[in-house]
Amino acid sequence: MKALVFLASRRKSSPPLPARLGERVCAFLMSQLAGRFEATLIDPLDYPATDTFKPAFSYSDNAKPSHLSGLESLIAQADAYVMVSPEYNHSMSPALSDLLNQFPSSVFSFKPSLIATYSSGQWGGTRAAVGMRPFLSELGCIPVSAMLHFPRADKVFQADGTLAPGQEEGRWASYANRGTEQLHWWAAAAAHQRAVLDPFAASPPFRRAPPERDAPGV
Ligand SMILES: Cc1cc2nc3c(=O)[nH]c(=O)nc-3n(C[C@H](O)[C@H](O)[C@H](O)COP(=O)(O)O)c2cc1C
Repeated sequence: MKALVFLASRRKSSPPLPARLGERVCAFLMSQLAGRFEATLIDPLDYPATDTFKPAFSYSDNAKPSHLSGLESLIAQADAYVMVSPEYNHSMSPALSDLLNQFPSSVFSFKPSLIATYSSGQWGGTRAAVGMRPFLSELGCIPVSAMLHFPRADKVFQADGTLAPGQEEGRWASYANRGTEQLHWWAAAAAHQRAVLDPFAASPPFRRAPPERDAPGV
């Protein structure tokens, strides 16, 4: 099973420190996925934002920027996604939504996702997580019921993503395990079913524009 772990911070600023706290959370989650998934980290800094927004799906195949077509292939080949977002003003990171908005939902769909949020505050990004559910559902990578939240992540994790002294390793592992096990179960089930029945034969992606799916007469 292949999983992509999306790091959702492009922040290079202080305060608040540390910048890109998400690196620690992703490092921890990558260690928790090992053994279950072949996990690859996707860093938004490798996919710089442009002044104007032209999603990868707007290009003809041969004109698509190569870094975006490379990521599109990785997304298409993955079995599952872990979306790791900080909470910015009670919302998911724009770095993540901007990157995901590049791609057609057909490359994500009929696969599961796991929502993981963090913050330096006490709620661990739970308010951002609520908004991530409809977003990921619309992309078609349905979020599993378990969500992972990491409050005060700057105190929980050290810079390399290992737990800070005094943190209970077994409890954090078992907490993360609920999400990663659900993700693995659904990823295996979805991979099996995709092989048995082509999901796009049953539910074709729209070809040109979302209104192709609209109810008749509206
Ligand atoms: C623009 C901005 C908005 C923030 N909004 C929230 C918030 O709504 N809730 C919260 O708990 N923390 C909030 N924070 C604090 C972040 O949780 C903290 O800075 C964290 O390190 C951000 O993740 P990052 O370093 O990976 O970008 C905010 C930080 C920034 C920069």
